[in-house]
Order: sequence, then structure tokens, then C-alpha cells
Amino acid sequence: MEVIVLKDAESVGKEAARMIAELIRRKPNAVLGLATGSTPEPCYAELVRMHKEEGLDFSQVTTFNLDEYYPIDPRHEQSYRYYMDTKLFNHININKANTYVPYGLAPDPDEYCCWYEEQIKRAGGIDLQILGIGHNGHIAFNEPGSSFASRTRLIVLTAETIKANSRFFEREEDVPRYALTMGMGTILEARKIVLLATGEGKADAVAAAIEGPITTMCPASALQLHPDVTFILDEGAASKLKRRDYYEHCRKLLSELKMKRA
Ligand code: GLP
Repeated sequence: MEVIVLKDAESVGKEAARMIAELIRRKPNAVLGLATGSTPEPCYAELVRMHKEEGLDFSQVTTFNLDEYYPIDPRHEQSYRYYMDTKLFNHININKANTYVPYGLAPDPDEYCCWYEEQIKRAGGIDLQILGIGHNGHIAFNEPGSSFASRTRLIVLTAETIKANSRFFEREEDVPRYALTMGMGTILEARKIVLLATGEGKADAVAAAIEGPITTMCPASALQLHPDVTFILDEGAASKLKRRDYYEHCRKLLSELKMKRA
């Protein structure tokens, strides 16, 4: 597990975008797993800039989003489909047919979630999964208690997630009570996972995910079981880590070794 601490949210977004761009240049038909929320916004802004100014080519890229409210019309301004279109897809040369966001009006959610899993498999699996983290340690909409073996499914949101996400809606009552989300098992199958967290409000969840016991009560702690995970944090989100010096020491020594071998 690699932990990178940067000075602010802007730098966190840029570092994540750099990793995504590096993958796309190496593998033009890369499959990306994407997240919503306020945290990845600077990352998407940077990808748009890289496309416009550096010609970063998304024409062969496929994307799968982690989750979507249910029920919600994809044209609703708070839907994750609307978020992805307006923050990223409308500004890059991606083929929209290759952008998957769970459909918030699926008539049969169970059947739809199986279909979504199938599409991920048919695309060859996810090369790089971007994640945010909820205050209660959730990833995607896998609330505490979610089985680490869970697959894409309909879930019931916790009161704290509804409260946290109500800042984007006019009234708390407007936040949908359900969501469709990739499962923990689905996420853990991604070849590489990059979790972004910014702000002191995330410090407890981040510390529990990286240094706490592996428990379904903190879904992000399951990432300790994955062979290739990078946490990119700003100072606030890293403020409760006990072993921060060690992570920095590791990064320094490993990059020295890499330079010597190059
Ligand atoms: C939502 C999303 C998550 C996201 C989390 C944190 O609940 N389903 O995927 O990681 O919020 O959002 P933010 O980045 O706005 O703090």
C-alpha cells in the first residue's frame, strides 16, 4: 500500500490525473473505474486540460462509474450521470457509448446490476479504479457492514450518507433513499486502485482505512487486502495517520532505488 501526502486538494487531483494519463498513454484502450463526489473534481478538470492542451486521447477508453442514486433520472442535475457528463465526458473525445454509469431508472435493479457486472467483464476488467471515501469509511455506496464479497447491487443509504450528500440537493428529503453500487468484491477486482481523500473531515475514515483493523464496519479497510493500492491525500486527510513518517520514508527510499536501477 502506497500513501502519498500532498499539500492540497488541487495537487491530489493533479497527481491522480497524472496516473490516469500515464495509463492511457501506455494502454490507449484502458478501462477506468470512476468516482463522483467533490473530491475527484480537480482530477477531472486536469484531465480535461490534458486533453485540450496536450491532446490526451480518450477515443478508445472505456469507463465504469462506481454508483448512482436510485431512483434518479439521469438528466437530474444531482445524478451521477449528469455529473460525469458535465465535469468530464462532454469535454473530452470519449465515445459516450463506452461510458457506463449505473442507470438510475432501471426497471429491474437486480437484473440491471448483473448486466452491469457482465459489461465490466466483457471490457476485460477495470485497469485503474479511482475511489473517494465517505466519512463513515464507505467506498462507492458500500455502507458499513457491506460484505467484502458483495457485487453490484441495490443498497439502502444510511442516514449519515443522506445527510452528508444533502448539501447537493435543495432539501434533505430530496436525496434518494437507495443507490446502485458496484460491490466490494467488484471493486477489489480492479487491477489498480487509487483512493483520493481531502480535508480534515476525512481524517478519521482515512486513518481507519489505512491503519485500523480490516472490518466491514469500515469498508475502505478492505483495501488493505488488495495488492496494488495508492492513497493520495492532502494534509488534512492525512492528519490522523500515526505512521505518516514511515510512509514518506518508504517513498523516498523506493524512489532512490528506482533511480539507481534506471
Ligand atoms: C458519495 C459517493 C462516494 C464518494 C463519497 C465522498 O457518497 N457515493 O463514491 O466517495 O460520496 O464524497 P465527497 O468526495 O464529496 O466527499
